[in-house]
Amino acid sequence: MSAIVIALPGNEALAGVLAQHLKAGLGAAAIHRFPDEESLVRLDCDVSGRTIVLVASLDRPDPKFLPLLSAATTTRELGASKVGLIAPYLAYMRQDQRFHAGEAVTSRLFARQLSDVVDWLVTVDPHLHRVKALADIFSTPAIAVHAASLLARWIAEHVDRPVLIGPDRESEQWVSEVAAGARAPFLVLEKQRSGDFDVRVSLPDLDRYRDRTPVLVDDIISTGRTMVGALQHLAARGAKPAVCAGVHAVFAPGALEALRAAGAERIVTANTIAHETNGIDVAPLLADAARKLV
Ligand code: R5P
Repeated sequence: MSAIVIALPGNEALAGVLAQHLKAGLGAAAIHRFPDEESLVRLDCDVSGRTIVLVASLDRPDPKFLPLLSAATTTRELGASKVGLIAPYLAYMRQDQRFHAGEAVTSRLFARQLSDVVDWLVTVDPHLHRVKALADIFSTPAIAVHAASLLARWIAEHVDRPVLIGPDRESEQWVSEVAAGARAPFLVLEKQRSGDFDVRVSLPDLDRYRDRTPVLVDDIISTGRTMVGALQHLAARGAKPAVCAGVHAVFAPGALEALRAAGAERIVTANTIAHETNGIDVAPLLADAARKLV
């Protein structure tokens, strides 16, 4: 019997494409919000004996997370044989240590709770930094697929003579992979973040790449401050108008406008989070990984 892909609200488009790739049925989970903002999940299909693939991207996670736990738990209670989760964007991965006394290490507690309710998980480029692999924090099988080759292909196809610029030293390996795929040189920024909206970046010497189009690449565009800082340096040095390419279009309020105001000529992201800048399709990657686990 084939699997059923169930979209949590907001994930219908990607879930539909994934169901086609997986040759699976398609269902939905509705969420009723009570006046006090409690949520009630209702599955719209019979899950008994079926393999279920929940699709829920977890940007702006807090109102989504409890409904997801409810949907997964209810799916099991109603007799699904397996419950997997495709979460193209996995939240909370950046808080992977106690940066200040008394802080929660949210990535671990988030991973523990998800591991309790799903049999497997697939995501795209989780922000793993000090934690090296999903298996270090998830006790359920978890696959991270990588959008680097898709970003590289988009850049190679859409940007004339690019030079890639990554956000920080930690991203160097990832940026070098994207650059190799796009057959382009790359640089990385020096970056210091002292608050959510307080980011200072400095740009390495660009002189030898003056005839190239700068492409700012990052795994996440959130406040946009990292890219805005880089765009300002580029403008001050008279560089060609820059392209911004990100995997996860988190975009805090005002971030997209700030990027445009700072001179971004074009902004593109992957469809791990539905957004008007989406131009890179990760569905085939997600489906390939899910196929191994279904
Ligand atoms: C940080 O380590 C990430 O790679 C991104 O650079 C960061 O999340 C971007 O955030 P923002 O858009 O808020 O500057």
